[in-house]
Amino acid sequence: MSDNKKNKVWTIKKVLFWTSDYFKKHNIDSPKFNAEMIMSKILNLSRVKLYLHYDEVLPAKKLAQIKKFIKKRADHYPLQYLLGETEFYGHKIYVNEGVLIPRPETEVLVDAVVTYLKNSDKKNCNILDLGTGTGVIPISIHKYFEDKDCDINFTVTDVLSASLKNAERNFQKYDMNNVKLIESDLLEKVDAIFDIITSNPPYIAEEDWDDLPLVIKDHEPKQALLAGERGLKYYKSILSKSRDYLKDDARVFLEIGAEQAEYVMQLADKHSFEVLGINKDFNDRDRVMILKMKE
Ligand SMILES: C[S@@+](CC[C@H](N)C(=O)[O-])C[C@H]1O[C@@H](n2cnc3c(N)ncnc32)[C@H](O)[C@@H]1O
Repeated sequence: MSDNKKNKVWTIKKVLFWTSDYFKKHNIDSPKFNAEMIMSKILNLSRVKLYLHYDEVLPAKKLAQIKKFIKKRADHYPLQYLLGETEFYGHKIYVNEGVLIPRPETEVLVDAVVTYLKNSDKKNCNILDLGTGTGVIPISIHKYFEDKDCDINFTVTDVLSASLKNAERNFQKYDMNNVKLIESDLLEKVDAIFDIITSNPPYIAEEDWDDLPLVIKDHEPKQALLAGERGLKYYKSILSKSRDYLKDDARVFLEIGAEQAEYVMQLADKHSFEVLGINKDFNDRDRVMILKMKE
């Protein structure tokens, strides 16, 4: 987008077309969507409104801001960090650099918890979310039940203080006064018992790290992703230590990697957990394991 082309007037339409094309050349997935999202953010207009203001000329200051964003995105900097937010389970979630960008697969875990709670007769429920990141799991569960007859309290842990700060901002956004945040290595500083433990722990195998796309490896926190040999480190810790934190009939909901079900089932058996089900994601891959303690 050159400034020195005389008489070039940059309308919203022209910038949208130019940017989509530029992103395409830089191998950015969904180039039009990326262009629209960046322009919506800078111009503070919804995506639909961009089209209603198609022929408006952009002020130089806005154009300069948009250019800066386009350049970063074309260098494969994640869109969600640029925008400072993402969408999860239909909710806007703040996300900043240093914190894992929530993935749509994790909505399968939320669905599993929602289904379980809807079918139970619980009026009160204490949920522990291990490795909360931006806090998407508790927020989505809270939003689902906020005007229903079930009183839910959350405890969330993360080892990264950046994650807890980001999560706290999101909890405030959704007026959640029912969350206790603890900076802790998994369960280390937790001292209560729960009806439900949820976790989407890091689960990338050490041996798979090199094959990850650069957009992830270069920008997202390694501590939120990497999990030792076969990616099992955190499942081992959670399953070996969580008994003392669970009520007798409690449930554990774990997000798992598509190839990990068999190994996690072995760990579950070793630590006297019964696997009640494994839910698939929208690509028909194993994604969420539901467990309870064996008697
Ligand atoms: C895969 S991310 C999931 C984040 C969030 N729950 C989500 O689904 O978007 C894993 C999270 O676990 C946190 N984490 C990593 N090691 C941890 C540990 N030892 N104790 C607690 N949290 C940890 C990371 O900082 C990160 O926020």
